[in-house]
Amino acid sequence: MSTETNVLEDLDFPTPGYAIGDDVADLLFRQARTVGAFTDEPVTDEQLAAVYDLIKWGPTAINTVPLRLLVVRSAEARERLAKHVNDGNRDRVLAAPVTLIVASDPGFHQHIPTLAPHMSALADALEDQLEQREQMARMNTLIQLGYLIVGLRAAGLDAGPMAGLDTAGVDAEFFAENGWRSQLIVNVGHREGEGTRHPRAARLGYDQVSLTV
Ligand SMILES: Cc1cc2nc3c(=O)[nH]c(=O)nc-3n(C[C@H](O)[C@H](O)[C@H](O)COP(=O)(O)O)c2cc1C
Repeated sequence: MSTETNVLEDLDFPTPGYAIGDDVADLLFRQARTVGAFTDEPVTDEQLAAVYDLIKWGPTAINTVPLRLLVVRSAEARERLAKHVNDGNRDRVLAAPVTLIVASDPGFHQHIPTLAPHMSALADALEDQLEQREQMARMNTLIQLGYLIVGLRAAGLDAGPMAGLDTAGVDAEFFAENGWRSQLIVNVGHREGEGTRHPRAARLGYDQVSLTV
């Protein structure tokens, strides 16, 4: 066993208040940017599967896990998607190594007996409640989107989420068969340089966004 007295100083102790080290806090949040410019380095299906295997553990209401992903990779699929993307976003969709269509599945209730066995009766109760299922699926998919962005960063990837698209057009283009509802898209890859031309903008502070009662 070492008798050096400075061994502990070499360890990367978490910043006070966090259970993770500064390097992880930087990777996931402080240094991470919304990226629009990517290198040619590919993103593999294995990488995307590994990201999902991590983020699937993030909580959703009644453990519904309604996020679904369509991985847009081929040039032909990319063109089909680009038609439905706002002008200002189109070039980035065409240039990114891969784009994920993040969709919600209003048919999530079919999995309730597996995902929430203690509430399996809910599967039948929701069968005729399409509007309620769509709302539940959308809210929990957007929660899972947050996990996805952080999970991509945890895997050493960069993400560029974009809501500027015609979701009805995307649904007709890609989801006429399975009924998924597109929510937004995320370009994924490795940042080129800073990955963005925009300087980092400020964030609101805790005292601006919180009240205590
Ligand atoms: C849900 C969501 C939707 C967004 N939609 C667009 C978009 O349609 N087009 C775009 O250029 N940027 C879009 N952004 C990027 C944001 O403007 C960006 O994340 C924000 O300004 C923070 O940038 P930073 O991470 O580099 O600090 C979107 C981001 C999120 C999280």
